[in-house]
Amino acid sequence: MSISLFVLIGFIYYVLAAPTANEPLQIVTARADTSRSFSVDKHVDKVLSFWTDDKLKAARPVMPNRKLNAQSITKLQPITNGPLGFVDGTIGSLQKAAVEAGIVSGIDQNDPSSIKVFSGTGRHTYTVGKIFWNITANSYGICSGTIVTAGNKDTIVTAGHCCYDHDAKKWRINQNFIFIPGYNNGAQPYGKWAARAMTAYSSWTVNQNYNYDVCFVNLYTNSKGQHIQALQGSEGLGYNYPRNALTYSFGYPYNLQQGQVMQYCSGKAAASKYGNGFNGQTIPCDMTGGCSGGPWFQSFDTTVGVGIITSLNSFIINSIANYMNGPYFDSSIWSLYQQCAIK
Ligand SMILES: *[C@@H]1O[C@H](CO)[C@@H](O)[C@H](O)[C@H]1NC(C)=O
Repeated sequence: MSISLFVLIGFIYYVLAAPTANEPLQIVTARADTSRSFSVDKHVDKVLSFWTDDKLKAARPVMPNRKLNAQSITKLQPITNGPLGFVDGTIGSLQKAAVEAGIVSGIDQNDPSSIKVFSGTGRHTYTVGKIFWNITANSYGICSGTIVTAGNKDTIVTAGHCCYDHDAKKWRINQNFIFIPGYNNGAQPYGKWAARAMTAYSSWTVNQNYNYDVCFVNLYTNSKGQHIQALQGSEGLGYNYPRNALTYSFGYPYNLQQGQVMQYCSGKAAASKYGNGFNGQTIPCDMTGGCSGGPWFQSFDTTVGVGIITSLNSFIINSIANYMNGPYFDSSIWSLYQQCAIK
């Protein structure tokens, strides 16, 4: 290939990659390929049995420090985008049983490092989990995700970059992609769940526009035919929520306890300094790779672990350590959610 053609392709790519205000939104979905198994059950078995304890422990963030360079440090004007709306969270049968047994706890505010993930019944300990897939036959990636209320009762939300590999231009759905709610240091208290489909906007998969770094994943039911939401419950999802709000973020960052334990950070959101047309917000947070896709909650009740997801962990700006950026959930993210909640 001649050098000039190379440059031209590079130029075309740049033009396509540059986010524009009026980018047409197109929903794109990838489904699990079950054709090489005799049945869907066999396919799910194969995916779940791929994951030995050793493999789960060996998994690493694909980009340990997902840091982007700020293009221009500008304070973006908050934009309003229609009326606020939300879907509420739901309680699952497991949390209900625990509450009835009198076991209730959330986050100990006096000891932020001791998130009482497994001693209590805060909703987030059932709904937030760790995501795994294999990068090659013997290397494995991680992200974080959350069960959201959905008609199909098997939907999780995570980051677009957790579902779609831009280097390989490929969805990760057929790379043994699984979700483990409440993962804790190798323990899988509520089992492993295999992915059935994943959906995002082409603005993410094609254009890598960080305003759309969002993916909804539909899971298969477990071997008893139970839906994840029926057992674990779900968190609510909101759109057009107020900016600059107190926000709680959760995830499994590799920089803290090697991603083996659910962590959180909290603080007031502010306009992101990424520039480059990014409309999202930033929160003070020391989590790095592995927490990608983990939820940002507003109206988070720390005693019961219930809140409304209004963004997620997406990226860190190179020159601004200890701040996490997340896309602003507006009406377009709500449209994407609505499509996925019925798939
Ligand atoms: C993931 O692991 C499976 C099973 O070992 C293997 O067949 C597949 O090629 C791996 N995926 C990639 C992308 O290497």
